[in-house]
Amino acid sequence: MTRTVLPKASLVDEYIKKHPGSKRWHDQAAQFFSANGATHAARILDPFRPYITRAKGVRKWDVDGNEYIDYVMGHGALILGHSHPQWVKAIQEQVTKGVHFGESHQLEIEWAKLINSMMPVAERVEFCACGQEANLMAIRLARIFTGRKKILRFVENFHGWADEVAPEGSAGVSTPDVKIIPMNDLNLAEAELATREYALVMTEGGGAHMAGQIPWDTDFIQALSGITGKYGTLWLIDEVVTGFREDRGGWQALMGVKPDMASLGKCASGGMAIGAVVGRADVFEAFNPKTPVERRMRHTGTWNGNPLLSSAGVAACKLYLDGEPQEKAAEMADYLRKEGNRILAQRKISGRLYGRTIVHFYLGPVDFEPQDEFSPPTRDVAKIMNPEMAAVKTVLCLHLLHRGIATMGSRTFILSAAHQRSDVDQTMEAFASSLDDLVAEGLLKTTKD
Ligand SMILES: Cc1ncc(COP(=O)(O)O)c(C=O)c1O
Repeated sequence: MTRTVLPKASLVDEYIKKHPGSKRWHDQAAQFFSANGATHAARILDPFRPYITRAKGVRKWDVDGNEYIDYVMGHGALILGHSHPQWVKAIQEQVTKGVHFGESHQLEIEWAKLINSMMPVAERVEFCACGQEANLMAIRLARIFTGRKKILRFVENFHGWADEVAPEGSAGVSTPDVKIIPMNDLNLAEAELATREYALVMTEGGGAHMAGQIPWDTDFIQALSGITGKYGTLWLIDEVVTGFREDRGGWQALMGVKPDMASLGKCASGGMAIGAVVGRADVFEAFNPKTPVERRMRHTGTWNGNPLLSSAGVAACKLYLDGEPQEKAAEMADYLRKEGNRILAQRKISGRLYGRTIVHFYLGPVDFEPQDEFSPPTRDVAKIMNPEMAAVKTVLCLHLLHRGIATMGSRTFILSAAHQRSDVDQTMEAFASSLDDLVAEGLLKTTKD
């Protein structure tokens, strides 16, 4: 039977006492935003997350004056940290020149050139409003190009909330043409593709959830290119999280693969709402006004490549060119992983921190020692996604917030180039004492027990 995992009443009381202003704002928010006052599912927390007034570098401050070291980092968008000075300057200058000309302009070309220079698959670029929109556009392009309807997706891979990209089993979703199969089973994937009914295969960069909470097998990913080509299906890597983060060329560069298309978002603008599909020129012929209407896609969108977003994108991408922000974030992730795993081992808590620039926290049995520090110590998806452990991590998230550390449900620590070793040290002190509290509260077992 599943245990009830709730934070101790005293923790909740202390948290509310320390966050009186946030409590007042939360009460107002709950009157408008039905997700317990939150405007994003990942920001739902009992009793509430803090109300933030400003952020800089890796720190953010709430209405009560509490300071946080941030590991949410704009849901992964801020690999440069909050308000990088060069990025801010570019946006400020653009605001005075005009945010939307309703016309073509040079910045959108400069941005596309930068993307293309880092990500060779980007023979063509189509800007849109967000990552999910990019995925939906890729689906449409693939259907037009192949003349087929079906989409092959993988269990737990996240691509947005709209019908065709929504997580498996989402209420109210109708997706007769979407098939979702387990990750990393090449025979199964090939058997589906051999039906020659699929327009597109979609894989999340790095693996399922934020760059690979459930990672891909390298062999599987490297084989996908061959089998999609063999059966006439297009392959999209969703690089909304991983693009320009895991490598300047995205996760595809790390794997040494070239998909037919990639979707971008988050880091591509350095922190403003954007999306883009990039890919093979022949696939993008659907946008060419000379293409016969039955194979044409008319792409509209008020915010597509507007000057303000483009100025942000150009500034961010210029900073990514030398690969330094990515290396710095990876170095800090490495430090956090090692320190965190030392803390877990010292306390005999069965679990592991793993991942490249986004560190995932696994709590559960260690089935084997992984070959690299980017993989969890199990291949069992049910263990990685164990809802009981997810609930323990939610309580840990509250403990961490109370100690000035902001995470996404303590499932992930999203690093940036702005994080320093001293930030990680402070974080790990909070991590250790929060774990001790969880053990004392009986919510977390050690192997000593
Ligand atoms: C892998 C992945 N794809 C797509 C999306 C959707 O992007 P957006 O929120 O910009 O629509 C997300 C959002 O977190 C994501 O993680």
